[in-house]
Amino acid sequence: MSLTFSKIDGYPIMTYEKDDGRKYMYLAGCPHKKRPFNVEGVKVVNDNIICPFHHAIFNLITGELVKEPESKTPCINCRLIKVEVIEGRLVFHGKPFIPELPKR
Ligand code: FES
Repeated sequence: MSLTFSKIDGYPIMTYEKDDGRKYMYLAGCPHKKRPFNVEGVKVVNDNIICPFHHAIFNLITGELVKEPESKTPCINCRLIKVEVIEGRLVFHGKPFIPELPKR
């Protein structure tokens, strides 16, 4: 399996590919605080991605939240945003956003 990052139409996209060739595409941002996933510290374990910021865990097959973030801020609509390319256009299953690092 592999997790790769790319940019399409200005959006960061991550593609999780299983060894059998099945692919799952998502916006490469954590829905908790809209932080980027393509940073140091992101981990993939057993088809799950662990956000390096507050350690929420999402399943890369379904997009569902597996473990709540370790934060006082609740995660609203907390699931990965699935992405498909249909007739050359990106279709988001959810409201897309541009992930950003926290401001200093
Ligand atoms: S930004 Fe990902 S868990 Fe908070």
